Amino acid sequence: VHFPGGKRPKICLTRRWPEAVEARLRVSYDVTPNETDIPLDPAQLAEAIRTHDALCPTVADAITREMLSAPDRRVRIIGNFGVGFEHIDLAAAREFGVAVSNTPDVLTEATADIAMTLMLMAMRRAGEAERALRSGKWGGWGPTNFLGQSLAGKTLGLVGFGRIARATARRAGAFGMRIAYHSRREAPDMPPHAYFADLGALAAEADVLSLHAPGGAETRHMVDAALLARMPAHAVLVNTGRGSLVDEAALALALKERRIAAAGLDVYEAEPEVHPALLDLPNAVLLPHLGSATIETRTAMGMKVADNLDRFFAGEPLLDPVG
Ligand code: DGY
Repeated sequence: VHFPGGKRPKICLTRRWPEAVEARLRVSYDVTPNETDIPLDPAQLAEAIRTHDALCPTVADAITREMLSAPDRRVRIIGNFGVGFEHIDLAAAREFGVAVSNTPDVLTEATADIAMTLMLMAMRRAGEAERALRSGKWGGWGPTNFLGQSLAGKTLGLVGFGRIARATARRAGAFGMRIAYHSRREAPDMPPHAYFADLGALAAEADVLSLHAPGGAETRHMVDAALLARMPAHAVLVNTGRGSLVDEAALALALKERRIAAAGLDVYEAEPEVHPALLDLPNAVLLPHLGSATIETRTAMGMKVADNLDRFFAGEPLLDPVG
């Protein structure tokens, strides 16, 4: 891509990206890659914002008002490598005229796959059983060994009903599950799925409750002790959205006391920290934020960031503007 005036914008990638994407970016940009692949600390992020035209962060990089308001800021666009943007102070970006883009659509199917993985592992006790086998505690097939729960005939309650929730619904439908959902608005185009205006009512009804709401102040701890108390004792909680949606201490207690059967988590409140009480629980399946982690998807995410940067520096509207 040739930009007006023959300029080569200077861009900072906060982590290593798939090689095909870095190679594409190097053609049109002066790219500062992060050779170490160690996350930048806040001082390094602030420095990158002062010295580059674009910053391309990930979910692990908190982009604060303080960074965006720096009088000597050079960055004009944040090209986020990911769909969620809870870690970026959007109000500050808007106020200081910094554009923000994200990567919707390309990670929908991969993330729905992980929601199903967690659902299957938690319902069928697959993590617990695998750990037992590896530690020599499997005594052979037995009629009552490792009994989990079937998916067929159960109700999946989706919290949020955007792209990833709908992709999860398609998969769960193929497993014979009924679909119910809670979101701000009913989706009239989605019969026969049952709409619940009230989250507590959905929690009481669902055999599996799967979270697909965005993070941020509005949804923080939407799954708290009170909501967990509405869930039936056989119910399973799945979270591929954001860790902030769940009060982890309350969840750990509910799992320990078997007030719900199990949880499957891919995201955590203070990544990469995992609440220590969760680590000890046999009925918690814990994945390390794998939602979009396929070669195809991570490459497509990087290409989407590049498409947005190309548009921005050519003076065209962003494909995926945020805020
Ligand atoms: C996303 O795309 O939001 C993933 O959670 C990684 O940031």
